[in-house]
Amino acid sequence: MMVNDMQVNYTDLGPDEAPVIIFIHGFPLDMSMWNSQVEVLKDQFRVITYDIRGHGSSDTGNDPFSIDLFVDDLIRFMDVLKIAKASICGLSMGGYIALNAYEHYPERFEALVLCDTSCMADSPEAQEKRLKSIENVITNGVATYAVESIMNLFTKDSLTSEIVEINAVKKMILNTSELSLCSTLLALSARQETFSKLPKINVPVLILVGREDLITPPAVAEVMHKNIKDSFLQVLDHAGHLSNLENPGDFNQHLKMFLNMVYKEHLIINQTANHSGLRELRNKLNMLLSFRSI
Ligand code: MLT
Repeated sequence: MMVNDMQVNYTDLGPDEAPVIIFIHGFPLDMSMWNSQVEVLKDQFRVITYDIRGHGSSDTGNDPFSIDLFVDDLIRFMDVLKIAKASICGLSMGGYIALNAYEHYPERFEALVLCDTSCMADSPEAQEKRLKSIENVITNGVATYAVESIMNLFTKDSLTSEIVEINAVKKMILNTSELSLCSTLLALSARQETFSKLPKINVPVLILVGREDLITPPAVAEVMHKNIKDSFLQVLDHAGHLSNLENPGDFNQHLKMFLNMVYKEHLIINQTANHSGLRELRNKLNMLLSFRSI
């Protein structure tokens, strides 16, 4: 699908009339990191995943990368798919995009799931580190970058036991061009804080974080939880930065419980209507509910 100046690679599964959940991946990965979540949600929800510009199989486009541009891509993507409102689930960079998108377009979102992410801007030291990473990519190539970053993404235990996940993540990183890696590192280092906007969030928020996340640790998740009124925090055992890949069992359970709570009315109506064959009633009630939320 064309969005702004680029071709976006995406998947759109589940019933058309179901509540929409859009997943936003981390850096420098792609939409396949959400395969397990798609599988468990797609019977009840319309589940959408996409590759952020310059990642996976989406085009790079011509504009310099920034979190604002990624947000604009997300909103245009929703427009093209005619999605007025959705819930978003973003991990790390995906969470930065989710928080930023909510700040500028609160009316487009019904709930947020913020995974292994942060509301802080990069410190000067973190920005310095990003520049070193850019130099590293230019000098030593993507393969060296992939091997080094894997070390920070997973727990020590997983580095020797979760070989399938590690190889999949390595493949996603290797599939990212040098240009995209460097442009995204610059975009990440220039991003604005969203900490000061957290008290304005007026939708339910689930915050998930791996207990052993070295990049956005539980203390950072705690700060978000304390500053977002309607938020729930779950710290997941046996997981580092990619908590959905390292502990999909607990991750999916919390995600499902949260979405079932957010969309309780919609799901009850659908189940009742499906049982009694009252399709027409279900459609009417859904329409009433959507008018009410407008
Ligand atoms: C990510 O997983 O998206 C990155 O770790 C984000 C970052 O480096 O800030």
